Amino acid sequence: MKRIGVLTSGGDAPGMNAAIRAVVRRGLSLGLEVYGIRRGFAGLIAGDFVPLSVRDVGDIIHRGGTILRTARSERFMTPEGQQEALEQIRAAGLSGLVVIGGDGSFRGAKVLTDAGVPCVGIPGTIDNDIAGTDATIGFDTAVNTVVQAMNAIRDTATSHERIFVLEVMGRHSGWIALAAGLAGGAESILIPEVPFSLDEVCKRLRESREKGKRHSIILVAEGVGSGFAIAEAIKERTGFETRVTVLGHIQRGGPPTAQDRILASRLGAKAVELLAEGRGGVVVGIINGEIAVHPIDEVVGKTKPIPTELVSLAEVLAI
Ligand code: F6P
Repeated sequence: MKRIGVLTSGGDAPGMNAAIRAVVRRGLSLGLEVYGIRRGFAGLIAGDFVPLSVRDVGDIIHRGGTILRTARSERFMTPEGQQEALEQIRAAGLSGLVVIGGDGSFRGAKVLTDAGVPCVGIPGTIDNDIAGTDATIGFDTAVNTVVQAMNAIRDTATSHERIFVLEVMGRHSGWIALAAGLAGGAESILIPEVPFSLDEVCKRLRESREKGKRHSIILVAEGVGSGFAIAEAIKERTGFETRVTVLGHIQRGGPPTAQDRILASRLGAKAVELLAEGRGGVVVGIINGEIAVHPIDEVVGKTKPIPTELVSLAEVLAI
């Protein structure tokens, strides 16, 4: 293997740049040429490639987003789009690819691997919803962003004795809501993986008021539904004054935490080492602090179960 490519695809995540840096620098140290592919699979189809040097990836370890930019490509879902991408890969002489992204990106990596281009996937998504790894790049940063927001919301919530509904990202997954809810002391955490009763949520709110609690934060993963609808329902049932904050894409940006930078650096380097050994069709991850390598088939389309003991713990501690 002499020349490899690296792309970021799907929603960006803080730490993707640190992963790109690790891929390029580890690749160069192994005597490989590394090409950046801009805008994910869309750029692969368009042949939007750029050789990356040591200096090209300088001054990016601390930046959110992705210098390679990213996209969700509809065309790559089609056989024609995939054919075009394969032709571009051959024309550029790329003998392997590192694909940084989430489940959709790994599906793309699998298509290319099956067509003879070895790919290694690196889990990069704030959602943390990828099997085969305890953490995805960007998750820790997003959780810390939510916790910072909760600190600020608590101040005003306490002053006005209000109920705040905080809607956080996670289209299909409650990982961000659960981790931030536990770390930030949320009154209730509503996530798509765990059925909940609004009556129960309201009962807890009434009880905590009686115990003298002056604020409550209900953390809602977007996969559960609109924070506004939940706030309205709580107000109707309890009469308590409610306010809503939808954090949105603030959770996707900002400087990555040290934990995300370290994870990205380790996984980026490992991905290149695997390609240099001629291994593809795998996804790298972190399990109990150790790097884990799984066949892409064992990761794609799988859900990572929510640790239900954390759900119970958060409930017990929010009394
Ligand atoms: O997958 C990451 C994620 O941030 C989800 O949590 C969220 O639902 C989605 O992307 C938002 O996507 P977009 O930026 O395309 O609106």
